[in-house]
Amino acid sequence: MTDSLFSSFSLRGTEFRNRVMLSPMCQYSSEDGLANEWHRVHLGTRAVGGAGMVMMEATAVEPDGRITPHDHGIWSDEHAEALEPITEFMRSQGAMPGIQLAHAGRKASTRRPWEGRGPIQPEDGGWEVLAPSEKPYPHEEGTVPTRRMDTGDIDALIEQFGAAAERALDAGFEVAEVHAAHGYLLHEFLSPVTNDREDEYGGSFENRTRLVREVTERVRSVWPDDKPVFVRISASDWLPDRPSWDIEQSVRLADQLDDLGADLIDVSGGGIHPDQRIPSTGPGYQVPYAEEIRSETDIPVATVGGITEPEHADALVRNERADLVALGREMLRNPYWPLQAAHELGEEIEWPPQYRRGRFDRA
Ligand SMILES: Cc1cc2nc3c(=O)[nH]c(=O)nc-3n(C[C@H](O)[C@H](O)[C@H](O)COP(=O)(O)O)c2cc1C
Repeated sequence: MTDSLFSSFSLRGTEFRNRVMLSPMCQYSSEDGLANEWHRVHLGTRAVGGAGMVMMEATAVEPDGRITPHDHGIWSDEHAEALEPITEFMRSQGAMPGIQLAHAGRKASTRRPWEGRGPIQPEDGGWEVLAPSEKPYPHEEGTVPTRRMDTGDIDALIEQFGAAAERALDAGFEVAEVHAAHGYLLHEFLSPVTNDREDEYGGSFENRTRLVREVTERVRSVWPDDKPVFVRISASDWLPDRPSWDIEQSVRLADQLDDLGADLIDVSGGGIHPDQRIPSTGPGYQVPYAEEIRSETDIPVATVGGITEPEHADALVRNERADLVALGREMLRNPYWPLQAAHELGEEIEWPPQYRRGRFDRA
């Protein structure tokens, strides 16, 4: 039988009711990194809306790993406790709850989008940020103090990812996603644009990928055998004019992560430097990267970027270009996209009983 958007999908014995994934999206709505009513409604509504998996936003493994002071985090047990009712509700609606574990690296200490983005200096409530090299992110409005991590910082970071994963498990998540994309800390180690280290974490492909491999191994070691670990990567830096990260390296890394027990590569792109030139932002603009990783390796992939049409999303799975289809902005506009897409595709999908009077075929 051909797989389709609304066929189920199983990884390590964890079954997703369909292939629609809510893409992780920062809500910048936490105080002290804690989840609150906003997260409960935001994630809960997408679970009610029929998504197979709901991936919670980039969640900082330590306070300085936040992009903004309002990012969500999971650096204490209190953070995990705040998440318990949220994951419980998502599961009760049939959606698999996932959480993206993250460190913002040199892109930390900024204002949230609706407060103008841009750097916050330490004297204004910001902080010194961590990076592979002493090269600050070139924000339009200037830079924040950026410190090159020493091996002690690197060891601590690996432990923070492990501890964060343990708490995420306690909080009831089924999927842990390592965020190694979009120019944040782990991606900064991968890319020669941001990594000019001369130790075992810089230089060669093996050295630049070492930290992502070590973090993935650490997360995998605390995550149960019957639950999947995802890794989100940027398949390209979109900086062909200089030594940078590209799809060939992404394929190699995906293969290595597969061997380390990662279960799916969530394939995104860009974010490392403002000079990037995105070749296209049309529908499914990152699909070719996902497809290449999928065909060149044995590891399943998610694709994301500009996907809005049910027929398109369905064709991506049917034509074996991706295993999961992640939607971001479209599901900000319409949390019920999966229920609506299933109707348009003529697929049977379970509606929450409270909403059945709203089914399209009963209107
Ligand atoms: C408001 C917003 C917040 C985002 N936050 C995250 C995030 O926390 N982690 C991440 O990997 N990507 C993040 N992204 C990127 C999305 O997950 C997605 O990859 C991107 O928006 C492209 O998909 P789309 O065209 O379906 O929106 C964010 C995007 C938006 C619009």
